[in-house]
Amino acid sequence: MSRYQNRWQTVTVDVEDGIAWVTLNRPEKRNAMSPTLNREMRDVLETVEQDADARVLVLTGAGSAWTAGMDLKEYFREVDAGPEILQERIRRDASEWQWKLLRLYSKPTIAMVNGWCFGGGFSPLVACDLAICADEATFGLSEINWGIPPGNLVSKAMADTVGHRQSLYYIMTGKTFDGAKAAQMGLVNKSVPLAQLREEVILLARDLLDKNPVVLRAAKNGFKRCRELTWEQSEDYLYAKLDQAQLRDPEHGREQGLKQFLDDKSIKPGLQAYKR
Ligand code: COA
Repeated sequence: MSRYQNRWQTVTVDVEDGIAWVTLNRPEKRNAMSPTLNREMRDVLETVEQDADARVLVLTGAGSAWTAGMDLKEYFREVDAGPEILQERIRRDASEWQWKLLRLYSKPTIAMVNGWCFGGGFSPLVACDLAICADEATFGLSEINWGIPPGNLVSKAMADTVGHRQSLYYIMTGKTFDGAKAAQMGLVNKSVPLAQLREEVILLARDLLDKNPVVLRAAKNGFKRCRELTWEQSEDYLYAKLDQAQLRDPEHGREQGLKQFLDDKSIKPGLQAYKR
C-alpha cells in the first residue's frame, strides 16, 4: 500500500524502487488541471522532494490523458465569476508547480506522456528534465481553437524547446501532432509504443538512479540556468555550482571517480559511471 494513499484528491503518488510515480488522477476529466489539482501538486512536489526513497520523479496521467490542459470550467469559467483578486492566487498556484518548482526541482524528473497533452500541459511537460511519450499520444496547442492565446508559460516553454517555425505553426493553427512528431521536434526525448512506455521510462530512471544525486542536481540545474545567462555569468555560476556540489556531496564522487579510473583502473568514465 502506498504511504501516500488517499492523501490527495486529484493526484496519486507511489514510490517504488527509487521512483516516485506521480499520477494526475482525474481521468474522467482527462486530468484537466483544476485549482485543486494545482494546489495539491505543489504539496506533492514538496513532499516527494523530502522523501529519501524517491530519487527520480515520473509525472504521468491516469486513463487516456496525460493532461487536457487547464480546466476550462474550474480554472476559467468559475474563477471568472469570482472576485478579480482571486485570479492572482489561482494563477500563482498553477505557476508554482507547473514550472517554478518543477523546472529546477532537486531531483531528476521525467514526463511520461501516456495520452492527450494539450495547452497548459506544455508548461509541466517542458519543465520536466526529460520526457518520453507514447506514439499514440496526441499533443496540441488548442488555445487558439477556443479563443485565447496560449496561457501561463506555454509560449515560453515552446520557445525554449522547439524551433521558431514549428512553434508558431502549432500555436497559430491549433493542429494536433503525435508522439513521433513530438520526438522529431525535440519536445520529448523519445516516443515509443504505449505498451512499452512504462518499461522505457523505468530504464531511463534506472540510468539516473545510478548517478550521484548531488552532482546530478548541479548538472541539470546548471544547464537550465546558464541558458539565460551570458558566457561570463555562466562561468561564475557553473563553477560556483561545481564547487558547491563537491562541498555538499556526502559520497565524495569526484575523488571516487578519479581513484577508480587513475589508481584502481576499474572504470572508464567515458563509458560508465563510477561505482557508488
Ligand atoms: N477542462 C475541463 N474539462 C475538460 C477538459 C478541460 N481542459 N478536457 C476534458 N474535459 C472534460 C470534458 O468536459 C468531459 O466532461 P463531462 O464528462 O463532464 O462532459 C470529460 O472531460 C471528458 O471529455 P471528452 O471531451 O468527452 O473526452 P474525449 O476523450 O472525447 O476528448 C479531449 C479528449 C482532450 C480531446 C477533449 O476533452 C478536449 O478537447 N479537451 C479540451 C482540450 C483543451 O483545449 N485544452 C486546453 C486547455 S488550456
